[in-house]
Amino acid sequence: MSGQANNEAVLSARDLTRHYSVSRGLFQPPASVQALNGVSFELQAGKTLAVVGESGCGKSTLARALTLIEEPSSGSLRIAGQEVAGSSKAQRKQLRRDVQMVFQNPYASLNPRQKIGDQLGEPLLINTDLSRVERREKVQAMMQQVGLRPEHYQRYPHMFSGGQRQRIALARAMMLQPKVLVADEPTSALDVSIQAQVLNLFMDLQEEFNTGYVFISHNLSVVRHVADEVLVMYLGRPAEMGPSEQIYTRPLHPYTQALLSATPAIHPNPLKPKIKIAGELPNPLDPPPGCAFHKRCPYADARCSSELPPLRLIDARQVACHHAERINA
Ligand SMILES: Nc1ncnc2c1ncn2[C@@H]1O[C@H](COP(=O)(O)OP(=O)(O)OP(=O)(O)O)[C@@H](O)[C@H]1O
Ligand SMILES: [Mg+2]
Repeated sequence: MSGQANNEAVLSARDLTRHYSVSRGLFQPPASVQALNGVSFELQAGKTLAVVGESGCGKSTLARALTLIEEPSSGSLRIAGQEVAGSSKAQRKQLRRDVQMVFQNPYASLNPRQKIGDQLGEPLLINTDLSRVERREKVQAMMQQVGLRPEHYQRYPHMFSGGQRQRIALARAMMLQPKVLVADEPTSALDVSIQAQVLNLFMDLQEEFNTGYVFISHNLSVVRHVADEVLVMYLGRPAEMGPSEQIYTRPLHPYTQALLSATPAIHPNPLKPKIKIAGELPNPLDPPPGCAFHKRCPYADARCSSELPPLRLIDARQVACHHAERINA
Protein backbone atom coordinates (compact mmCIF):
# COMPACT_ATOMS: atom_id res chain seq x y z
CA MET A 1 0.00 0.00 0.00
CA SER A 2 1.07 3.66 -0.14
CA GLY A 3 3.22 4.44 2.86
CA GLN A 4 0.48 6.49 4.46
CA ALA A 5 0.74 7.06 8.17
CA ASN A 6 -2.11 5.41 9.99
CA ASN A 7 -3.13 8.60 11.75
CA GLU A 8 -3.63 10.56 8.54
CA ALA A 9 -7.25 11.60 8.06
CA VAL A 10 -8.96 9.75 5.20
CA LEU A 11 -11.85 12.17 5.41
CA SER A 12 -11.82 15.69 6.71
CA ALA A 13 -14.87 17.96 6.73
CA ARG A 14 -14.68 21.59 7.72
CA ASP A 15 -17.80 23.67 8.26
CA LEU A 16 -19.88 21.77 5.72
CA THR A 17 -23.23 23.34 4.95
CA ARG A 18 -25.97 22.49 2.54
CA HIS A 19 -29.04 24.60 1.89
CA TYR A 20 -31.99 23.59 -0.20
CA SER A 21 -34.31 26.05 -1.85
CA VAL A 22 -37.90 24.87 -1.55
CA SER A 23 -40.96 26.29 -3.24
CA ARG A 24 -43.71 27.55 -0.93
CA GLY A 25 -46.27 27.83 -3.68
CA LEU A 26 -47.37 30.26 -6.31
CA PHE A 27 -46.61 33.98 -5.63
CA GLN A 28 -44.49 33.07 -2.63
CA PRO A 29 -40.73 33.51 -2.59
CA PRO A 30 -38.91 30.18 -2.18
CA ALA A 31 -37.78 29.28 1.32
CA SER A 32 -34.43 27.88 2.30
CA VAL A 33 -33.90 24.72 4.35
CA GLN A 34 -30.59 24.57 6.18
CA ALA A 35 -30.28 20.81 5.95
CA LEU A 36 -26.66 20.84 7.05
CA ASN A 37 -25.04 23.63 9.00
CA GLY A 38 -21.43 23.83 10.13
CA VAL A 39 -20.40 20.18 10.38
CA SER A 40 -16.69 19.51 10.91
CA PHE A 41 -14.88 16.28 11.71
CA GLU A 42 -11.85 14.18 10.89
CA LEU A 43 -11.97 10.47 10.21
CA GLN A 44 -8.90 8.25 10.42
CA ALA A 45 -8.29 5.05 8.46
CA GLY A 46 -9.82 2.02 10.15
CA LYS A 47 -12.02 4.13 12.44
CA THR A 48 -15.79 4.66 12.57
CA LEU A 49 -17.66 7.90 12.99
CA ALA A 50 -21.30 7.28 13.87
CA VAL A 51 -23.77 10.00 12.91
CA VAL A 52 -27.01 9.92 14.86
CA GLY A 53 -30.11 12.06 15.26
CA GLU A 54 -33.82 12.11 14.58
CA SER A 55 -35.40 11.94 11.14
CA GLY A 56 -34.74 15.11 9.17
CA CYS A 57 -31.67 16.24 11.12
CA GLY A 58 -29.51 16.11 8.00
CA LYS A 59 -27.83 12.70 8.17
CA SER A 60 -28.49 11.71 4.57
CA THR A 61 -27.66 15.22 3.40
CA LEU A 62 -24.27 14.80 5.05
CA ALA A 63 -23.88 11.36 3.44
CA ARG A 64 -24.61 12.79 -0.01
CA ALA A 65 -22.05 15.55 0.49
CA LEU A 66 -19.38 13.12 1.70
CA THR A 67 -19.89 10.77 -1.24
CA LEU A 68 -19.85 13.60 -3.82
CA ILE A 69 -23.42 12.86 -4.84
CA GLU A 70 -24.24 16.49 -4.04
CA GLU A 71 -22.02 19.53 -3.70
CA PRO A 72 -22.07 21.24 -0.31
CA SER A 73 -23.24 24.87 -0.38
CA SER A 74 -20.07 25.85 1.45
CA GLY A 75 -17.29 24.40 3.55
CA SER A 76 -14.38 22.18 2.73
CA LEU A 77 -14.15 18.45 2.19
CA ARG A 78 -10.87 16.58 1.87
CA ILE A 79 -10.63 12.93 0.93
CA ALA A 80 -7.25 11.38 1.78
CA GLY A 81 -5.81 14.89 1.87
CA GLN A 82 -7.22 15.94 -1.49
CA GLU A 83 -9.58 18.94 -1.48
CA VAL A 84 -12.77 18.09 -3.41
CA ALA A 85 -13.70 21.64 -4.40
CA GLY A 86 -11.72 22.72 -7.42
CA SER A 87 -10.43 19.21 -8.18
CA SER A 88 -10.04 18.21 -11.83
CA LYS A 89 -12.33 15.73 -13.57
CA ALA A 90 -9.72 12.98 -13.32
CA GLN A 91 -9.13 13.68 -9.63
CA ARG A 92 -12.85 13.60 -8.97
CA LYS A 93 -13.12 10.22 -10.65
CA GLN A 94 -10.45 8.91 -8.28
CA LEU A 95 -12.16 10.55 -5.28
CA ARG A 96 -15.44 8.86 -6.21
CA ARG A 97 -13.62 5.54 -6.11
CA ASP A 98 -12.13 6.36 -2.74
CA VAL A 99 -15.50 6.99 -1.10
CA GLN A 100 -18.22 4.38 -1.50
CA MET A 101 -21.73 4.24 -0.11
CA VAL A 102 -24.12 1.62 1.21
CA PHE A 103 -27.79 2.57 1.38
CA GLN A 104 -30.63 1.56 3.66
CA ASN A 105 -32.41 -0.37 0.94
CA PRO A 106 -29.95 -2.60 -0.89
CA TYR A 107 -32.60 -3.74 -3.36
CA ALA A 108 -32.80 -0.25 -4.82
CA SER A 109 -29.04 -0.10 -5.37
CA LEU A 110 -28.84 -3.44 -7.20
CA ASN A 111 -29.79 -4.01 -10.81
CA PRO A 112 -32.66 -6.56 -10.81
CA ARG A 113 -31.71 -7.86 -14.27
CA GLN A 114 -28.01 -8.48 -13.73
CA LYS A 115 -26.43 -11.51 -12.09
CA ILE A 116 -24.79 -10.82 -8.75
CA GLY A 117 -21.37 -11.93 -9.96
CA ASP A 118 -21.50 -9.50 -12.86
CA GLN A 119 -22.67 -6.65 -10.62
CA LEU A 120 -19.82 -7.23 -8.22
CA GLY A 121 -17.34 -7.38 -11.10
CA GLU A 122 -18.57 -4.16 -12.68
CA PRO A 123 -16.47 -1.75 -10.57
CA LEU A 124 -13.41 -3.81 -11.55
CA LEU A 125 -14.39 -3.80 -15.21
CA ILE A 126 -14.77 -0.02 -15.24
CA ASN A 127 -11.81 0.92 -13.08
CA THR A 128 -9.11 -1.71 -13.59
CA ASP A 129 -7.33 -3.58 -16.38
CA LEU A 130 -7.92 -6.97 -14.81
CA SER A 131 -8.77 -9.81 -17.16
CA ARG A 132 -12.10 -11.58 -17.07
CA VAL A 133 -10.62 -14.49 -15.15
CA GLU A 134 -8.90 -12.22 -12.63
CA ARG A 135 -12.10 -10.27 -12.07
CA ARG A 136 -14.01 -13.45 -11.49
CA GLU A 137 -11.46 -14.61 -8.95
CA LYS A 138 -11.63 -11.32 -7.08
CA VAL A 139 -15.42 -11.37 -7.06
CA GLN A 140 -15.49 -14.91 -5.74
CA ALA A 141 -13.00 -14.06 -3.02
CA MET A 142 -15.10 -11.08 -1.95
CA MET A 143 -18.29 -13.15 -2.07
CA GLN A 144 -16.71 -15.64 0.28
CA GLN A 145 -15.59 -12.84 2.54
CA VAL A 146 -19.14 -11.53 2.93
CA GLY A 147 -20.57 -14.99 3.51
CA LEU A 148 -22.03 -15.77 0.08
CA ARG A 149 -21.59 -19.13 -1.60
CA PRO A 150 -19.95 -19.68 -5.04
CA GLU A 151 -23.27 -20.70 -6.63
CA HIS A 152 -24.70 -17.28 -5.72
CA TYR A 153 -22.58 -15.81 -8.51
CA GLN A 154 -25.21 -16.73 -11.11
CA ARG A 155 -28.24 -15.52 -9.16
CA TYR A 156 -30.30 -12.35 -9.47
CA PRO A 157 -31.02 -9.89 -6.63
CA HIS A 158 -34.60 -11.06 -6.06
CA MET A 159 -33.33 -14.52 -5.17
CA PHE A 160 -31.72 -13.27 -1.95
CA SER A 161 -32.97 -12.33 1.49
CA GLY A 162 -32.71 -8.75 2.75
CA GLY A 163 -29.67 -9.57 4.84
CA GLN A 164 -27.94 -11.28 1.93
CA ARG A 165 -28.72 -8.33 -0.33
CA GLN A 166 -27.08 -5.98 2.16
CA ARG A 167 -24.05 -8.30 2.14
CA ILE A 168 -23.96 -8.00 -1.64
CA ALA A 169 -24.24 -4.20 -1.48
CA LEU A 170 -21.40 -4.11 1.02
CA ALA A 171 -19.28 -6.43 -1.13
CA ARG A 172 -19.88 -4.20 -4.12
CA ALA A 173 -18.92 -1.07 -2.20
CA MET A 174 -15.73 -2.76 -1.00
CA MET A 175 -14.65 -4.20 -4.40
CA LEU A 176 -12.23 -1.34 -5.09
CA GLN A 177 -11.05 -1.13 -1.48
CA PRO A 178 -12.24 2.43 -0.87
CA LYS A 179 -10.59 4.61 1.77
CA VAL A 180 -13.98 5.59 3.14
CA LEU A 181 -17.33 3.84 3.32
CA VAL A 182 -20.44 5.87 4.10
CA ALA A 183 -23.31 3.67 5.26
CA ASP A 184 -26.71 5.36 5.58
CA GLU A 185 -28.90 3.30 7.93
CA PRO A 186 -27.52 0.05 6.46
CA THR A 187 -29.28 -2.23 8.93
CA SER A 188 -32.51 -0.32 9.61
CA ALA A 189 -34.54 -2.28 7.07
CA LEU A 190 -33.34 -5.66 8.35
CA ASP A 191 -34.77 -8.05 10.87
CA VAL A 192 -33.35 -7.47 14.34
CA SER A 193 -31.83 -10.96 14.34
CA ILE A 194 -30.00 -10.23 11.08
CA GLN A 195 -28.85 -6.73 12.07
CA ALA A 196 -26.09 -7.96 14.38
CA GLN A 197 -24.70 -10.34 11.75
CA VAL A 198 -24.53 -7.60 9.14
CA LEU A 199 -22.96 -5.18 11.65
CA ASN A 200 -20.32 -7.79 12.44
CA LEU A 201 -19.62 -8.19 8.76
CA PHE A 202 -19.11 -4.42 8.45
CA MET A 203 -16.61 -4.59 11.29
CA ASP A 204 -14.76 -7.62 9.83
CA LEU A 205 -14.32 -5.89 6.50
CA GLN A 206 -13.14 -2.71 8.18
CA GLU A 207 -10.47 -4.65 9.97
CA GLU A 208 -9.43 -6.41 6.80
CA PHE A 209 -9.19 -3.30 4.61
CA ASN A 210 -8.53 -0.56 7.19
CA THR A 211 -11.43 1.46 5.78
CA GLY A 212 -12.73 4.59 7.48
CA TYR A 213 -16.48 4.33 8.12
CA VAL A 214 -19.15 6.96 8.46
CA PHE A 215 -22.02 4.99 9.92
CA ILE A 216 -25.41 6.68 9.98
CA SER A 217 -28.27 5.61 12.21
CA HIS A 218 -31.20 7.17 14.02
CA ASN A 219 -30.65 4.56 16.73
CA LEU A 220 -27.86 5.17 19.22
CA SER A 221 -27.87 1.59 20.48
CA VAL A 222 -27.21 0.19 16.98
CA VAL A 223 -23.97 2.13 16.60
CA ARG A 224 -22.74 1.72 20.14
CA HIS A 225 -20.48 -1.22 19.37
CA VAL A 226 -19.18 0.01 16.06
CA ALA A 227 -18.47 3.69 16.78
CA ASP A 228 -15.12 5.15 17.75
CA GLU A 229 -16.51 8.69 17.56
CA VAL A 230 -20.12 9.82 17.68
CA LEU A 231 -21.62 12.91 16.06
CA VAL A 232 -25.09 13.78 17.36
CA MET A 233 -26.98 16.09 15.02
CA TYR A 234 -30.01 18.23 15.65
CA LEU A 235 -31.74 20.13 12.86
CA GLY A 236 -28.66 20.17 10.64
CA ARG A 237 -26.22 21.20 13.34
CA PRO A 238 -23.83 19.22 15.52
CA ALA A 239 -25.16 19.06 19.09
CA GLU A 240 -22.39 16.93 20.56
CA MET A 241 -19.39 15.13 19.12
CA GLY A 242 -16.65 13.11 20.71
CA PRO A 243 -15.24 9.71 21.60
CA SER A 244 -17.92 7.04 21.75
CA GLU A 245 -17.01 6.04 25.30
CA GLN A 246 -17.58 9.60 26.58
CA ILE A 247 -20.81 10.12 24.71
CA TYR A 248 -22.38 6.87 25.86
CA THR A 249 -21.27 6.88 29.47
CA ARG A 250 -21.62 10.58 30.21
CA PRO A 251 -23.49 12.54 27.54
CA LEU A 252 -23.37 16.28 28.23
CA HIS A 253 -25.92 17.70 25.78
CA PRO A 254 -29.54 17.44 26.94
CA TYR A 255 -30.47 16.18 23.48
CA THR A 256 -27.92 13.34 23.61
CA GLN A 257 -29.14 12.53 27.10
CA ALA A 258 -32.70 12.39 25.85
CA LEU A 259 -31.79 10.20 22.87
CA LEU A 260 -29.93 7.83 25.15
CA SER A 261 -32.67 7.59 27.71
CA ALA A 262 -35.10 6.79 24.88
CA THR A 263 -33.08 3.73 23.83
CA PRO A 264 -33.86 0.68 25.91
CA ALA A 265 -30.88 -0.47 27.99
CA ILE A 266 -30.10 -4.07 28.91
CA HIS A 267 -29.12 -2.95 32.41
CA PRO A 268 -31.12 0.20 33.11
CA ASN A 269 -29.53 2.45 35.69
CA PRO A 270 -32.21 3.51 38.21
CA LEU A 271 -30.03 6.42 39.37
CA LYS A 272 -29.87 7.99 35.93
CA PRO A 273 -32.61 10.58 35.42
CA LYS A 274 -34.84 9.83 32.45
CA ILE A 275 -35.24 12.73 30.09
CA LYS A 276 -38.19 12.69 27.74
CA ILE A 277 -38.07 14.68 24.56
CA ALA A 278 -41.23 16.72 24.64
CA GLY A 279 -42.84 18.11 21.52
CA GLU A 280 -41.97 17.81 17.87
CA LEU A 281 -38.90 18.56 15.84
CA PRO A 282 -39.18 22.24 14.80
CA ASN A 283 -40.10 23.12 11.22
CA PRO A 284 -36.80 23.21 9.33
CA LEU A 285 -38.21 25.97 7.12
CA ASP A 286 -38.70 28.13 10.17
CA PRO A 287 -36.18 27.11 12.81
CA PRO A 288 -36.53 28.79 16.22
CA PRO A 289 -33.98 31.48 17.11
CA GLY A 290 -31.18 30.63 19.52
CA CYS A 291 -30.61 26.96 20.26
CA ALA A 292 -32.77 24.86 17.90
CA PHE A 293 -33.46 22.44 20.76
CA HIS A 294 -34.61 25.04 23.33
CA LYS A 295 -38.36 24.48 22.93
CA ARG A 296 -37.96 20.82 23.86
CA CYS A 297 -35.23 21.22 26.44
CA PRO A 298 -36.04 20.97 30.16
CA TYR A 299 -33.11 23.26 31.05
CA ALA A 300 -33.69 26.08 28.56
CA ASP A 301 -33.74 29.69 29.72
CA ALA A 302 -33.96 33.09 28.02
CA ARG A 303 -30.42 32.89 26.68
CA CYS A 304 -31.19 29.62 24.89
CA SER A 305 -34.07 31.19 22.99
CA SER A 306 -31.96 34.06 21.69
CA GLU A 307 -28.34 33.01 21.43
CA LEU A 308 -27.04 30.18 19.27
CA PRO A 309 -24.76 27.98 21.40
CA PRO A 310 -21.36 27.45 19.75
CA LEU A 311 -19.60 24.10 19.94
CA ARG A 312 -17.31 24.15 22.96
CA LEU A 313 -14.72 21.65 24.10
CA ILE A 314 -15.77 20.22 27.46
CA ASP A 315 -14.50 17.00 29.00
CA ALA A 316 -12.86 15.64 25.81
CA ARG A 317 -15.81 16.26 23.49
CA GLN A 318 -17.52 19.18 21.77
CA VAL A 319 -20.90 20.32 23.01
CA ALA A 320 -23.25 23.00 21.69
CA CYS A 321 -25.09 23.92 24.89
CA HIS A 322 -24.90 27.10 26.97
CA HIS A 323 -25.55 25.20 30.17
CA ALA A 324 -23.60 21.97 29.68
CA GLU A 325 -21.48 22.55 32.80
CA ARG A 326 -24.37 23.59 35.03
CA ILE A 327 -26.74 20.74 34.15
CA ASN A 328 -24.00 18.12 34.43
CA ALA A 329 -22.44 19.39 37.65
N1 LIG B 1 -33.51 17.70 -2.16
C1 LIG B 1 -34.06 18.34 -1.12
N2 LIG B 1 -34.80 19.45 -1.30
C2 LIG B 1 -35.32 20.12 -0.26
N3 LIG B 1 -35.19 19.77 1.03
C3 LIG B 1 -34.46 18.67 1.28
C4 LIG B 1 -33.87 17.89 0.23
N4 LIG B 1 -33.21 16.85 0.80
C5 LIG B 1 -33.39 16.96 2.13
N5 LIG B 1 -34.14 18.06 2.42
C6 LIG B 1 -34.51 18.51 3.77
O1 LIG B 1 -33.32 18.59 4.53
C7 LIG B 1 -33.54 18.13 5.85
C8 LIG B 1 -32.60 17.00 6.18
O2 LIG B 1 -32.96 15.86 5.42
P1 LIG B 1 -32.16 14.48 5.47
O3 LIG B 1 -32.76 13.58 4.47
O4 LIG B 1 -30.72 14.77 5.37
O5 LIG B 1 -32.50 13.97 6.95
P2 LIG B 1 -32.14 12.56 7.64
O6 LIG B 1 -31.50 12.91 8.94
O7 LIG B 1 -31.41 11.71 6.70
O8 LIG B 1 -33.58 11.95 7.96
P3 LIG B 1 -34.06 10.40 7.99
O9 LIG B 1 -33.61 9.86 9.33
O10 LIG B 1 -35.53 10.50 7.91
O11 LIG B 1 -33.43 9.69 6.84
C9 LIG B 1 -35.02 17.77 5.93
O12 LIG B 1 -35.72 18.86 6.47
C10 LIG B 1 -35.38 17.53 4.50
O13 LIG B 1 -36.74 17.81 4.28
MG1 LIG C 1 -31.80 9.83 5.88
